[in-house]
Amino acid sequence: MTNVYAGAAGATLGHNHTDFVDLRSDTVTRPTPGMLAAMAGAEVGDDVYGDDPTVIILEQRVAETFGKEAGIFLPTGTQSNFCALLSHCGRGEEVLVGRPYHVYSYEAKGASVLGGIGLEPLDVSADNGLDPETVAKAVKADDPHVPITRLLSLENTVSGKAVPLARQEAAAAVARDHGLSVHLDGARAFNAAIALEIDPKTLARCADSVSVCLSKGLGTPAGSVLCGSKALIQKARRYRKMLGGGMRQVGILAAAGLYALEHHAPRLEEDHHRAARLRQALSENPALTVDLSPLQTNMVLLQFKDGDSKAIVAALKAQGIIVSGGGKAMRLVVHRDIDDVGIARVIAGFNASL
Ligand SMILES: Cc1ncc(COP(=O)(O)O)c(C=O)c1O
Repeated sequence: MTNVYAGAAGATLGHNHTDFVDLRSDTVTRPTPGMLAAMAGAEVGDDVYGDDPTVIILEQRVAETFGKEAGIFLPTGTQSNFCALLSHCGRGEEVLVGRPYHVYSYEAKGASVLGGIGLEPLDVSADNGLDPETVAKAVKADDPHVPITRLLSLENTVSGKAVPLARQEAAAAVARDHGLSVHLDGARAFNAAIALEIDPKTLARCADSVSVCLSKGLGTPAGSVLCGSKALIQKARRYRKMLGGGMRQVGILAAAGLYALEHHAPRLEEDHHRAARLRQALSENPALTVDLSPLQTNMVLLQFKDGDSKAIVAALKAQGIIVSGGGKAMRLVVHRDIDDVGIARVIAGFNASL
């Protein structure tokens, strides 16, 4: 399996992000002056006591946006997914999940290691969705030799591609027919909704819970919100405390989230347009094969035709262009700290180095 997080550059990139173009992830964005002002002015309380007013507003706003009853603010997307799985499943039960999905491939199997929950990986189709038949076949019979299948865990976007709504809903419907609940890892749910031209509520309507990250394309320093029914979120609150994720005057971070929902969510489409331009330009380089499939958002997925990318990673770094990689494949992620000038620099950098 290609690890998209491998070969990340060191931490010392300097403070001025115009000095370099960092395409490792959309998590590398830095808070804007407007966001910092909102954080500095946040009204705070103690969120473990449930009285941080800014956190309460954020949780309600994200829950409403995704059509759910309640929300809970957590430090990371990993903890949010973990709390969701723990809240849906008991020990000895299992989750069906796409093999390349973050919950299966990049969360250190925490649900199994720490939660006693089985993770059953399912192969995905070319559009990164799950075939309903694959889901149906994976549900175990009621037999003491096997775990009880409890949950289907979906993801959208997957590797920067939006899974078509009909595909997502068909998989969810089959899961429901078999008595499973459905979780959606919507780390980049706003990107998915934009690409699918639907509102976030529609995206999440087939799921009992949805986890949304604020620290990816939305550009906050940290934070995710898990949304679902009041009962599920109450369970998640206990697990969050158990996992050490109960934070105190965290309205400072929630204020960044509220600022991002208002000011950054509406501009995510710009990242998609820039990624499309980068995709198109790099596809003209004969040394590269670029994924030009539809419904892509802010990522550019490419393969090097000759050998691996070690030399190009170094050559780009020398030009102030920071990428993850080292193998035959590379993922470039466009975000709010990369403007048109940055895209032009990346195109020129690749063309000069290959
Ligand atoms: C699809 C997906 N889900 C969950 C996460 C986890 O988020 P975090 O890094 O905040 O733990 C990520 C992180 O990149 C992700 O891409």
